[in-house]
Amino acid sequence: MSDETQLEARLEEQDRFDPPESFVEQANVSDEAIYEEFENNWPEAWERAAELLNWETDWDQVLNDDDEPFYEWFVDGELNATENCVDRHLDERGDEAAIEWVGELGETRTYTYEELHREINEFAAALREQGVEEDDVVTLYMPMVPELPIAMLACARIGAPHSVVFAGFSADALAERMNAAESETLVTCDGYYRRGDALDHLSKAREGLADVDGDVTTIVVDRLGDDAPTDVDDEHVYGDLVADHEGATVEPVTRDAEDMLFLMYTSGTTGKPKGVKHTTGGYLSYAAWTSHAVLDIKPEDTYWCSADIGWITGHSYIVYGPLALGTTTVMYEGTPDYPEKDRLWEIVEEYEVTQLYTAPTAIRAFMKWGPEYPEAHDLSSLRLLGTVGEPINPRAWKWYYKHIGDEECPVVDTWWQTETGGMMITTLPALGTMKPGSAGPPLPGVSADVVDASGDPVEAGRAGYLVVNKPWPGMLRTLYNNDERFIEEYWQEYSIPERDQWVYCPEDGAKIDDDGYITVLGRVDDVLNVSGHRLGTMEIESAIVGVEGVAEAAVVGGDHEMKGEAVYAYVITEDGQAETESFREEIIAAVEDAIGPIARPEAVVFTPELPKTRSGKIMRRLLEDIANGDEIGNTSTLRNPEVVDDIQQKIE
Ligand code: PRX
Repeated sequence: MSDETQLEARLEEQDRFDPPESFVEQANVSDEAIYEEFENNWPEAWERAAELLNWETDWDQVLNDDDEPFYEWFVDGELNATENCVDRHLDERGDEAAIEWVGELGETRTYTYEELHREINEFAAALREQGVEEDDVVTLYMPMVPELPIAMLACARIGAPHSVVFAGFSADALAERMNAAESETLVTCDGYYRRGDALDHLSKAREGLADVDGDVTTIVVDRLGDDAPTDVDDEHVYGDLVADHEGATVEPVTRDAEDMLFLMYTSGTTGKPKGVKHTTGGYLSYAAWTSHAVLDIKPEDTYWCSADIGWITGHSYIVYGPLALGTTTVMYEGTPDYPEKDRLWEIVEEYEVTQLYTAPTAIRAFMKWGPEYPEAHDLSSLRLLGTVGEPINPRAWKWYYKHIGDEECPVVDTWWQTETGGMMITTLPALGTMKPGSAGPPLPGVSADVVDASGDPVEAGRAGYLVVNKPWPGMLRTLYNNDERFIEEYWQEYSIPERDQWVYCPEDGAKIDDDGYITVLGRVDDVLNVSGHRLGTMEIESAIVGVEGVAEAAVVGGDHEMKGEAVYAYVITEDGQAETESFREEIIAAVEDAIGPIARPEAVVFTPELPKTRSGKIMRRLLEDIANGDEIGNTSTLRNPEVVDDIQQKIE
């Protein structure tokens, strides 16, 4: 056997990995006692997180649980998020890089803390001049350009919560989110590059604005220069506004710990996205603490999270967490395979990246492309690897560990959600034995369990529902303007209010091992996870039934080698509507218009009927089995079992 084959065979068999000694020696958190400290001194132990920040006024109380589940953290504390992410680093790190930006065409920009501070101040002054006041929600519909984090931090400086809408979302999705947040200010961009082509973003933003109620002030970043497909005319130009306020300074506004820092819309079981509200004190403490304890970030690092800032991962772990700790955060505009499949490794080598945090979908793509791409680069600067967003299978985990980390870097598989604000379940990189495929134990101070349908803990190894039993500082505080839905969505299933037992329900399936390690299996509600992106089946269905000629639709997730899950749409047409290829394309286009290309169905299957129970409920599980080519489960409860054969034949 060659050395290489021997190594593969060993890795194949090994199901536990201890943190490398070299990592442990230098880790931010390397004392196992931390678990006990949190356990014995809860919730006060969470002060450790808050103490990573600068507070203008100290908190009086760590946790207020008088009005459960509307918890408050670091009560009466006061601070400003931008002051914490930028100003306080100026003395020691003013000339160091805060953001290293790499554009898709290869151009680069470095913002030192000093430069970042200057532009944030100038843009904050411009926003004020445009009439933005404290507590006004500013919508940011922007791709991965440095002006996005700058705009976020400018908003935070003046106490205006931001609502970032992922640039890949459609015009309709933008309008829906702006209306829901009653947002009257939009910062957007003329376009961006994808695989070398200039994409028009501004036309999409304008199309969305046509459906927004109220007068909106629009500010456009010029990313494309002469390549821009659409001229900026009746909007304000970001660059002009910043130039008009050259040298301006704006005092950071003092915010209460519980004041809203931002809103983030995410998919749920109903057709309407949920406006998750995060706060200034609790969220920022949590983002900073987890960046410190799990990602092991130190100021002198060059840390890279390859997510998009349009999702929560980018908020917490490209912007707020890393900048709160005063490190250098890398931002990449483009795709990992443009111009070549080694783009990420080229960046790691060039910038001497120390930590890489990415998604299993990306790792599966790297595996498929082959180890020769990372092997062509010196990746020895890497010290830690992380994954997030979806379950990672052990084979992909081991590939990442070996081919990217050279068996020298711990891998943290971090489970969390938009709602949790930051990581919840993962090994601490210097402390926990890693078990590929299992995220690990809950973080110190986080209490999670796996229960059955009646809320009782399940035996080790059995599948059940993941629950979180205690509040944590980074938790969402409510759904914007909708306290009722907040309770219904997250707290109704297992809480017993009469006994004051409040249990947060993330809607994930999981199992727990004897040693307390949790393996997250995937969503148990009607939410899909496509390439780590969260999509609601109801949102997709309502886009499809909006197409003239469609009578009914059901959307499910089918297994997909690269994306994890893919969208399968089963459609019943109205009488007289031909089931043609062009009609199929019309349906696909409607989904892209309503949500965006990420929700594009993998298959649209025309069917005369949907499998339904006698009470008229669609049996989605059967549709999933069909999509996956799995053996079909029990059909005896169906009103129309014959339809299963029909659909199966269509999909073959
Ligand atoms: O199903 C879980 C999955 O992603 C969902 C949360 O999606 P979102 O709010 O968009 O946030 C993604 C980034 C934090 C969860 O309910 N998920 C996230 N991380 C993992 C995961 N599933 C398995 N393992 C993970 N590490």
